[in-house]
Amino acid sequence: MSSTKFANAGIEIESNNHINGNGIKNGSSNGNCYTKHENGSQNGKKKLTEITNGKGTASVTKTQEIPLGQIGNVVSPYTYEIIKESADYILQKTTHRPKIGIICGSGLGNLADLLENADTFPYNQIPHFPVSTVSGHEGKLVVGELLNVPVVCMKGRFHFYEGYPLWKVAMPVRVFKLLGVEILIVTNAAGGLNSTYKVGDIMLLKDHFNFPGFGGDSALRGPNDERFGPRFPPVNSAYDAKIRSLAKKVAEELDMSSYIREGVYTMVGGPSYETVAELKAMKTLGIDAVGMSTIPEVIVASHCGIKTLAFSLITNECVTGYDGEVDPSHSEVMEAADKREADLKRFVSHLIPSINESFLAKSN
Ligand code: HPA
Repeated sequence: MSSTKFANAGIEIESNNHINGNGIKNGSSNGNCYTKHENGSQNGKKKLTEITNGKGTASVTKTQEIPLGQIGNVVSPYTYEIIKESADYILQKTTHRPKIGIICGSGLGNLADLLENADTFPYNQIPHFPVSTVSGHEGKLVVGELLNVPVVCMKGRFHFYEGYPLWKVAMPVRVFKLLGVEILIVTNAAGGLNSTYKVGDIMLLKDHFNFPGFGGDSALRGPNDERFGPRFPPVNSAYDAKIRSLAKKVAEELDMSSYIREGVYTMVGGPSYETVAELKAMKTLGIDAVGMSTIPEVIVASHCGIKTLAFSLITNECVTGYDGEVDPSHSEVMEAADKREADLKRFVSHLIPSINESFLAKSN
């Protein structure tokens, strides 16, 4: 038996050397994660190995090394029990019991500063949590209160283009679920495709076009654990219409309506921005804004019964002509995010108490 590593997740695994064509080991199984793909059994005995990530340990079935960047046939090793270990670690170290979760997009991490009495968890201290690698993505989970409403906020998220498989990108949403989160607010930076959109607009997502899903990849791909949700979940209502309508009302009260939009988002894998031909095709599909995130998290939230409000900050206008206009760049994205920081903070700090009052107060 040899010890191998999940590169980047810091997950150490023992393994035998019988890997089948799917990259899944034959023979041994604990019934928890890859096991539905494995052949053979263990005569009723569970063969457990250790996952270590900083302070946490957990039992996990044997499998092979998953190098950073590998996708294809590899499915999630995060069992319910592993996710619970991440959540329990946080619950043991904070007295807050968040019902609202926020995922901050590129350059929007400062929303976490709104939280008071905060307990902060660098990702590398939370057992099994991935760590983020992009500039502008700090990598901390902040649990605190916003006007007395308990909230958990991811300051920095994980992207497919960093090399993470989609199940790892969306893993924190399941941790949120086991923390008790009922409503998720997801933010992202996006390029505006709709020709009426301007830099600085905020687009509330009413729907998405899932390009990675069309390509056959999903954060839900692989064995399904019904404790999180059904095998074939609908996502037609993933972007909750009532919460979106409340968000529009809050924006109106704050005199922000002139730059609030509502539209269809898509995610590309990135990290390269889109070509003119791709953007033109997206336009014909009715897509209003394009980014490199959000859809995996929203699908996983919807699967486990978390309602979502998502919005894009339009950080650049997509270039759909060949006549030498400005190329999109990460610095342009960060600059646009900086300019809207104060407005976004104002929006979110009014939104959260309203969401709490309208949708959560009874369950508090
Ligand atoms: N395309 C993809 N992702 C993005 C963009 C874009 O134009 N702007 C910000 N994130």
